[in-house]
Amino acid sequence: MAERKKTMIKFTDDYLCGIFLIDEQHKILCSIVNRLFEHSQDIEEYYKEILLDLENYTRYHFASEEAFWGENSPLDVEEHVKQHNGFISIVESSMENQEFDKKRFDEFIEFLVQWLEIHIKVEDKKMLRSKSHLVTSDNDER
Ligand SMILES: [Fe+2]
Repeated sequence: MAERKKTMIKFTDDYLCGIFLIDEQHKILCSIVNRLFEHSQDIEEYYKEILLDLENYTRYHFASEEAFWGENSPLDVEEHVKQHNGFISIVESSMENQEFDKKRFDEFIEFLVQWLEIHIKVEDKKMLRSKSHLVTSDNDER
């Protein structure tokens, strides 16, 4: 029987920051998290593989973001980096559990969905507002 009470991430326009590279990476990040929902039936078999993909892609994405936010930003990039590092260590430690606990894992997925939503919609956009002069309507800065 399908047990699908939690909802996948719908990457609606309110997730968009207006920087093409960052937005595309956020889409990929969300699609990796959504794979956890797609595999709700056989999650025990796939969760390690998906979380490893999530960890690797998150590291890659955070590095892009930190380089981007870090350039001449008037805001506290250190604080933002701390949030990134905290997220990475939570994802990392989730893979260390020897025994799979469905209920705890469901809570963990819920955490991922909420963290990403708030981080992208609030924290990343806050960083972006300090760089609003870089956002162009056609993504062409030449
Ligand atoms: Fe970020």
